[in-house]
Amino acid sequence: MKRRVPIYALMAVLVLSACNDRTSKRSRWLTTGDPERGKIALTSYGCVACHTIPGVRGSKSLSAPPLIGISQRSYLAGMVENTPENLRFWIQHPRKVNPHTAMPEQGVTDRDAADMAAYLYTTR
Ligand code: HEC
Repeated sequence: MKRRVPIYALMAVLVLSACNDRTSKRSRWLTTGDPERGKIALTSYGCVACHTIPGVRGSKSLSAPPLIGISQRSYLAGMVENTPENLRFWIQHPRKVNPHTAMPEQGVTDRDAADMAAYLYTTR
């Protein structure tokens, strides 16, 4: 969580978010994850039980914030700076970031967290 990706790397995602293909490539590069695998993992881990996530079938729940435009956020969960590292860390250990959050620890693997982060950086 401490290691930082330079802000210009994240800016690149924002600048390129006009183009889907490029966004997906940037997203892979930033997160080392695979957005297509991430999309599947978001369903299999049950993230959709709480979150609406664009492009992920069966996600209609509004009991937690919709995961829209994640690449455009300054902060994640109102707690930490939005960096690929922090997004992965949040997905794996939300309660280490905020012990009071309703989001559960789900034993997400490193690979799955990177993949889900990659997908989330492609959503608008
Ligand atoms: C039991 C409901 C629940 C489940 C299941 C859940 N979350 Fe969350 N999630 C939340 C809540 C509530 C928040 C709001 C965080 C807060 O403010 O504490 C949140 C916040 C987030 C955020 C930050 C959103 C923002 O607006 O900054 C991300 C990203 C996220 N969740 C991803 C996931 C992923 C990926 C999964 C599946 C591995 C998942 N969540 C599973 C309830 C859930």
